[in-house]
Amino acid sequence: MHDLLDAAIAKRSSLLTAESNAIRLIDGAGDGLPGLFLESYAGRWLLSTTTGNIPPPFREWLRDQAVSCYWKRLDQHQKESPTLLCGPEITAPFLIREHGFAYEISFQSGYSQGIFLDQRDNRAQVHRLMRPGLRLLNTFSYTGAFSVAAAMAGAETTTLDLSQPYLDWAKRNFSHNSLNPADHHFCKGDTFHWLRRFAKQGRLFDTIVLDPPTFSRDEKGKVFRVEENFGELAALAANILAPGGWMLCCTNFRGISSHAFERQLLGEIPHPMTARHSSMPPDFNDEPYLKSVWLTL
Ligand SMILES: C[S@@+](CC[C@H](N)C(=O)[O-])C[C@H]1O[C@@H](n2cnc3c(N)ncnc32)[C@H](O)[C@@H]1O
Repeated sequence: MHDLLDAAIAKRSSLLTAESNAIRLIDGAGDGLPGLFLESYAGRWLLSTTTGNIPPPFREWLRDQAVSCYWKRLDQHQKESPTLLCGPEITAPFLIREHGFAYEISFQSGYSQGIFLDQRDNRAQVHRLMRPGLRLLNTFSYTGAFSVAAAMAGAETTTLDLSQPYLDWAKRNFSHNSLNPADHHFCKGDTFHWLRRFAKQGRLFDTIVLDPPTFSRDEKGKVFRVEENFGELAALAANILAPGGWMLCCTNFRGISSHAFERQLLGEIPHPMTARHSSMPPDFNDEPYLKSVWLTL
């Protein structure tokens, strides 16, 4: 096992740079290590496992690495923060860098740590496509990482999430990059509600990011399921897309193929759109669960 672990890390060494210091180091079966996922956040490690056991050879190998390593069990019902496995305790949030931008990470604020590394290349693409004068709407924004990538290209951004603590975290991510949150928009509430409201107000966006959780329930108890409701969501977003604009639709739901996902989107959007798929970052070499479809009018 030690050879597999060393090889997985060695083959990703070129991805760790001064500009990008958060990557997946071990990607389960993609590295011959089913059920083991290890990520590095500016040198602090997070191990995720599909079972409640850590193989003893992995624990031994970890002891020799002299790093802080936290652990969580992959479980969608889990709400707990990761626990310290070895090395010094991390007692406060800290910053990572991705393509030169800073993002705040916390190992203390629950199951998710502040950024989804599998969206790194999509964030870079959003940054490349934006420029001053363009408007980005980032729905299901979580900590606003897509918004920061767009704002760093000069775009005017609108960041939308159900959770006020995540919107506050998003504002801190703006500040960590010397962006003034007051120059941007932050909306609390349900994405469906806001998409209808923007349509009534006649507001248009040049880029819309739709990256919802597989399942969610809004404050009024209304349920959203990727496999049933993503088409409706995309159709509502298409109503407020400016001419020449594009939408990024993502899901990490494993129960739908890329092609079925594309069909679902195009089947519900009333206008003809062109679809392009992007792949996952190279450090994610296990099953390509993240489907990313870029739609243009
Ligand atoms: C999977 S995360 C999104 C990840 C994010 N797109 C990113 O790349 O960092 C899901 C987010 O959606 C938010 N959320 C869930 N249901 C929502 C809804 N109906 N309307 C708005 N936000 C919602 C959650 O609060 C959470 O922050």
